[in-house]
Amino acid sequence: MSESPFPISNIGPLRIVVLASGRGSNLQALLDAQRIDGCQFEVTGVISDRSKSQALERARDAGVAAVALDPAHHQGSDAFDAALCATIDQLQSDLVVCAGYLRILSDATVQRYAGRIINIHPSLLPSFPGLRTHAQALAAGDTEHGASVHYVIPALDAGPVIAQVRVPVKTGDTTQVLAERVLAREHPLLVRCVALIAQGSIFQRGSDVYLDSCRLSHPLQLDDRDILQSMEH
Ligand code: GRF
Repeated sequence: MSESPFPISNIGPLRIVVLASGRGSNLQALLDAQRIDGCQFEVTGVISDRSKSQALERARDAGVAAVALDPAHHQGSDAFDAALCATIDQLQSDLVVCAGYLRILSDATVQRYAGRIINIHPSLLPSFPGLRTHAQALAAGDTEHGASVHYVIPALDAGPVIAQVRVPVKTGDTTQVLAERVLAREHPLLVRCVALIAQGSIFQRGSDVYLDSCRLSHPLQLDDRDILQSMEH
C-alpha cells in the first residue's frame, strides 16, 4: 500500500468523487456539508452503476456531474472498472468516496487509488464485513453496533479504519430500526472524516492511519457532539 500524499491539490477544496449505487443519503450529507462556509471539500462528481439511482438524482439536483455506468454495457468487470477509472480520472478527483457502492472494485482499481479511496461500512469493523450487517449484529446478540469509515484495500472491508460511531442495540430492535439508528450517525461520521482528510490531518501510510503525524492505534470515535476524538494515539 502506498502513502497518501494529502493534501493533493494545494489550491482550492479537495475534489471528491462519490461512488453510490442507491439511495445516496451519505452523498447528500456531503452535498449539504459543502454548502457550509469554510468547507474544504467539494463533490465534483457522482458515479453510479445504476442509472435510476436516487444518488444520481441528488447529484443532478445539486448541480454536480452525475455519471451512470451500466455494467451491462461493458464486457466483464475489468472493462467496467477501466471505464470507472477513466471517469474518476476525468473528474480529476483527489479522493474517491464509496458510499453505498454495491460492486466490488478490482484489485487494480483499488491499487490505482491507494490512500485516496475510502468506504463507509455499517458495522464496527472488523465485526461483520460484507452484507446484512444489521441482521448479523442482532443475531450475535451484540449490545452495541455502529459504522466505520476505512481506507479501501483489495480485501473486502478490511482496510485501516479511520473512525467509527457507536449506537446501542435496544431490546426489540428490528433490522430496519437498527439500520435507521446507524444511518443517522453515518452521515456526520462520513462528513467529519472527509473534512479531516481535506484539511490534511488524516492520511494512510501502509496499513496504518495517521492523525497529524501520529499513528492511530484505535479508530477515532465520533461523540454525541459529532466531534471525532482519538482514544489514544
Ligand atoms: C449505508 O448504510 C452505508 O454504510 C452502506 O450502504 C448504505 C448506503 O446508504 N455502505 P446511502 O445510499 O448512503 O443512503
